[in-house]
Amino acid sequence: MYDVFNLPDIAFPAGFLWGSATAAHQVEGDNVHSQRWADEQAGRIAVPSGKACDHYRRYRGDVALLARLGHGAYRMSVEWSRIEPENGRWDEAAADHYVDLLERLKNRGIRPFVTLHHVTHPLWFEKLGGFAGRGNLRYFERFLERLVPRLSPFTDGWIVLNEFNLSTAPDSGPLKLAMLRAHARGYHIIKRHSKAPVGTAHAYIHWLPARCHDPLDRVLARYADFLTNEFFFHAVRTGEIVYPHTDAAYDREVKGSMDFWGVNYYHRQMADARRAGLRGTPFRHTQLTLLREGPMAVRELYPEGLIAAIERLGDRPIYITENGLPCEDDRFRIVSIALHLAALREAMDRGADVRGYFHWSLMDNYEWDSFAPRFGLVHVDFRTFQRTPKPSAYFYRDVIRRNGFGAGLLKKYLRELPTVAAWPPGPGRSARP
Ligand code: BGC
Repeated sequence: MYDVFNLPDIAFPAGFLWGSATAAHQVEGDNVHSQRWADEQAGRIAVPSGKACDHYRRYRGDVALLARLGHGAYRMSVEWSRIEPENGRWDEAAADHYVDLLERLKNRGIRPFVTLHHVTHPLWFEKLGGFAGRGNLRYFERFLERLVPRLSPFTDGWIVLNEFNLSTAPDSGPLKLAMLRAHARGYHIIKRHSKAPVGTAHAYIHWLPARCHDPLDRVLARYADFLTNEFFFHAVRTGEIVYPHTDAAYDREVKGSMDFWGVNYYHRQMADARRAGLRGTPFRHTQLTLLREGPMAVRELYPEGLIAAIERLGDRPIYITENGLPCEDDRFRIVSIALHLAALREAMDRGADVRGYFHWSLMDNYEWDSFAPRFGLVHVDFRTFQRTPKPSAYFYRDVIRRNGFGAGLLKKYLRELPTVAAWPPGPGRSARP
């Protein structure tokens, strides 16, 4: 375990943006017109989202909570399937809802960063083939052309898409490239209506060969890095779209379509040449148990990966658009925040232009097929929807107030470091609550 009690005092530059992030489907509840909701109802996803955090109804209280916790910024997503539940039918009340949410944030001095697509979209769009469907980009464009001018007076930053870069599947090319073009088109539409900076949130995966000396693992770690990270950086920088098994193309709309790099960073990943899908067994902490069950039980603290991401992105300002940890023992979250902020500071000392940090997540929420991984600064009781800030929320509030932290602040919130015996996930244990 890192000796966080001996971290030096760390200060961030004036104006550094501190906030947290959520996504509509994971917090709002009753997202009934989305493709994910249909999958959940059809039993294709084990645990449905249901009311999630009931945020769609409780958003006023959640804005007040953000203010109480001292957040200066908030990354949230708007739900296309609420605003356009049927092809061409615009629900003005749903658009008004988001305007009201943004206006309330602004009135509280919280700067909104708006994500326009975070995994979910209307079921009708999915039925037409989604982003990969021929000619379907026009539906997304139509949505943005109408929504962006309404939201732009209240929006301080835009995130066109969230994490479309992740897949390493051999057939992942067409959808990824379609989404890359959707990102670029979105970028140019927003630029016509808003002066706020525009980016897309990139899930940075730090790849390592599963066996450090194995030549094939090493090659495939580089390859997986290209599929998930480099193809995107290269395309945005040059306009040249290079993806395996696809003829290269040049797209001038893609070139330069990013005012900042949005980095979502969580963990490293092993590339294993002897596994279908490339993904090897994640590195497992033997000394720490962050979460008792499920695939995320093996998550670890690896802040060096954040530095590695930042080192590759020197050509634009950077916002950390997500970073967080699923854990039952909130003390790990405090350690994790401290270590990742120390890593950020180190990269900034070495020249990186990092402008802000959005912690994932403001509150415990629906983690796509489970409510078990608790990522929140704020605890949510999923029966009563009661919100209760955890100690990490107050630690983070104090970091924001001081624009930094030191060992003294850590000691205020952590009497001792969490050391929990290893709890290896075994057969028959599932992630479902
Ligand atoms: C996604 C979030 C997700 C988080 C934690 C990110 O990949 O953008 O939707 O909840 O990671 O797993």
